[in-house]
Amino acid sequence: MRSDLLYWRAMRDYKPAMSFDEDVAERDRDTVRGDEEAAVAFLLGHASGGPALELGIGTGRIALPLAGRGIRVDGIDIAPPMVSQLRARPGGDGIAVTVGDFADVPVDGAYRLIYVVFNTFFNVLTQDGQVRCFENVAAHLTDDGSFVVEAYSPAFLFRLRDDQYVNAEAIEVDRVTLDVLRHDAATQMIEESHVRLARDGVRLNPVVQRYAWPAELDLMARIAGLRLKERWGGWERRPFTARSSNVVSVYGR
Ligand SMILES: C[S@@+](CC[C@H](N)C(=O)[O-])C[C@H]1O[C@@H](n2cnc3c(N)ncnc32)[C@H](O)[C@@H]1O
Repeated sequence: MRSDLLYWRAMRDYKPAMSFDEDVAERDRDTVRGDEEAAVAFLLGHASGGPALELGIGTGRIALPLAGRGIRVDGIDIAPPMVSQLRARPGGDGIAVTVGDFADVPVDGAYRLIYVVFNTFFNVLTQDGQVRCFENVAAHLTDDGSFVVEAYSPAFLFRLRDDQYVNAEAIEVDRVTLDVLRHDAATQMIEESHVRLARDGVRLNPVVQRYAWPAELDLMARIAGLRLKERWGGWERRPFTARSSNVVSVYGR
């Protein structure tokens, strides 16, 4: 067998819901990323009074504070454990959530703001699915509406050695947590697992993503009849450059 075939074997039978089980949902409920205030301020500016729809709403890290600013926020999520944790949070029962694949945008009505943050767009694992997502978003956007996509810039992948890394996330007396990642440039796929080794056993938290460069996102938007209105290197509206770790893109008609 050729060595490159031996080298790359995608995580078989992986489905995004596997990354968001009860354990993850419970931990996620209390997780902050540090960008919440800036993200909500940015999204509020594009909501034009709402309503807003979050794709992959999770446990409401962004949706809850945005709703707290007076915007009606609906959500879509594929993982019932994440939705249960959202429901249990203050204000969570006031948010209408549809359980389903956000690439289908399985909701009624039109939104002034549709957004997908924290690399969640890359959880749709095919280019077809990602284009379908843009098309369905366009069908649910008001004429003056905005679609905001926030994700990492794939540029960091150029700096990996042998297209992979192992990072020590935590080293404690009774447990070690490793972040293990592998990249395939040909398919634009990333396989990652957070591996927790502890006295009581091993826990794996696999994640697979199909990343897209900003230019590919712009083409998906054009296919869907949308155009790029703004692009920034973060919620604080820094210019997007080759060194930016994050990309915030705003699409509209
Ligand atoms: C990284 S979490 C982000 C949650 C939230 N947006 C935040 O910023 O904290 C990704 C969320 O997207 C959901 N998700 C992933 N792929 C999905 C899909 N194809 N359709 C619907 N939800 C999906 C997961 O269940 C999870 O709740």
